[in-house]
Amino acid sequence: MAQELSAQDREKQAVGEAAAAHVEDGMAIGLGTGSTVTFFAAALGRRIADGLTVRALPTSAASIDLAQSFDIPLIDWTATTRLDLCVDGADEVAPDRAMIKGGGGALLWEKIVASASARRLYIADSSKLVARLGAFPLPVEVVRFGHQATAERLAALCGEAALRGGAEAPFLTDSGNFIYDCRCGEIADPAALEAALGAIPGVVESGLFVGMVDLLIAVRDGAAVELGPQDAPWWGADHD
Ligand code: A5P
Repeated sequence: MAQELSAQDREKQAVGEAAAAHVEDGMAIGLGTGSTVTFFAAALGRRIADGLTVRALPTSAASIDLAQSFDIPLIDWTATTRLDLCVDGADEVAPDRAMIKGGGGALLWEKIVASASARRLYIADSSKLVARLGAFPLPVEVVRFGHQATAERLAALCGEAALRGGAEAPFLTDSGNFIYDCRCGEIADPAALEAALGAIPGVVESGLFVGMVDLLIAVRDGAAVELGPQDAPWWGADHD
């Protein structure tokens, strides 16, 4: 018997299926990473089985497996450097659509793929909608060389920086780097913090995604709702 979905998974399914409806025949898409994107991939796989022609560039090794499990044809960077659409999840989304990503460790490839996409669609269950970014530890990808020194500079900026996986068994990204999860507290100015982090030698990329959302599909009162850049958010301090 199929296992019943949790309330949160039903929300992830709703936004994932709504996102799949945005994929058009012939598109080259970026395929994000994470549990919400898994519902998108499942819905996309059903559309492909029904005749939709689409190719996907995955944002992680895990997404390569995901695409293959739903028979989504793959592309790589040698085939194309421009994508029509990317669909990805988020760890936190602020009312201005600044986001924290990278809980799954795929932030670098996710940001590269998003940057190569003409249109960027993000999907989020209601737990991801926050008044201010920062309760979720901010992932920052750093090169291994000198990472202890880089971590000191991260801590000076953010307060606390913890090596993901710990010193004994550090987590390695798909590019072979480390991730530091930074407890920054409330992030008042995500763009300024993103720039400051990017200026630290040894930092490859941060999980702050600012100004990248062309369409957000999130959940309000149990239903998937689409929010364009000009649409007013319904969550956050000014909207409660
Ligand atoms: C992967 O590194 C992340 O950026 C994910 O997109 C993000 O963590 C969302 O994941 P879930 O959909 O599993 O919450």
